[in-house]
Amino acid sequence: MMNSVEKDRIVGAAPAGARDRESAAKAVQEMFTSIAPRYDLLNHVLSFNIDRLWWWRAARCFDAILKRPGARVLDLCCGTGDMAFALHRQAGAVDLKILGADFSHAMLQRAAQKCNSTAAETEPGQAPSPRWVEADALRLPFPDGHFDLVTSAFGFRNLADYDAGLREIARVLRPGGECGILDFGEPRGLIGEVYRVYFKKVLPAIGTLISGVRGPYAYLPASVERFPAPDEMMARMKQAGFAEASWTSHTMGVAGLYRGVKAL
Ligand SMILES: C[S@@+](CC[C@H](N)C(=O)[O-])C[C@H]1O[C@@H](n2cnc3c(N)ncnc32)[C@H](O)[C@@H]1O
Repeated sequence: MMNSVEKDRIVGAAPAGARDRESAAKAVQEMFTSIAPRYDLLNHVLSFNIDRLWWWRAARCFDAILKRPGARVLDLCCGTGDMAFALHRQAGAVDLKILGADFSHAMLQRAAQKCNSTAAETEPGQAPSPRWVEADALRLPFPDGHFDLVTSAFGFRNLADYDAGLREIARVLRPGGECGILDFGEPRGLIGEVYRVYFKKVLPAIGTLISGVRGPYAYLPASVERFPAPDEMMARMKQAGFAEASWTSHTMGVAGLYRGVKAL
């Protein structure tokens, strides 16, 4: 078990049993692989389908880039692909490249299956379907300055080192390129109190029941609690090489979108 001194030192995901960055990343990878078969169902049930709205809103924010022929877009920690599909829909008929990257093979397999089975994704006159690549977000197999846009939905929070993750995103973005990190937040006030009961008690119970796997759905609220608050996250983004950083709350702070523009 990571002791409290180590947990404070490592600014990144720290699932139960993780001792350091490597074991934290391995535990995260195993966890998502174990829930891959039920991941989509659980997502939609536990978020009351609001996840679709969040992906769509995030994609819409980057419309200018997605309407640019030849644009190169990377969706990091893409899981079963829903953020990449939202970006693809927003791109319409524009000829651009969308890549989804994840380090869980099982999650990527689902993304590829969904891509093949959704007729709309392959219709003529549509942007080329997203492609999938197995890769670690902390060691991306792309050259510097390669992408116009990097997104990550509910994935970044799971990285074992947030600063290293931000630096890697900044590295693969071209100067002036943008990033969008969509993730959970912690709503305040009375709504926050009610939400916390749902998020910490009800959600882990339903998640465990449907997935048949104990652990991941207790890790979820713990990882959100551990994730930096918006002010700190924006400061970290600036330190990592983003000239601009902002955060927009979605659904009373249950989720939010960080946006960053890489310095020229
Ligand atoms: C909560 S899921 C999000 C999936 C998807 N983006 C969505 O919105 O539903 C988090 C994903 O991040 C991936 N992930 C976590 N750490 C990663 C890393 N270091 N490199 C690549 N993928 C990672 C996991 O494998 C998992 O598929």
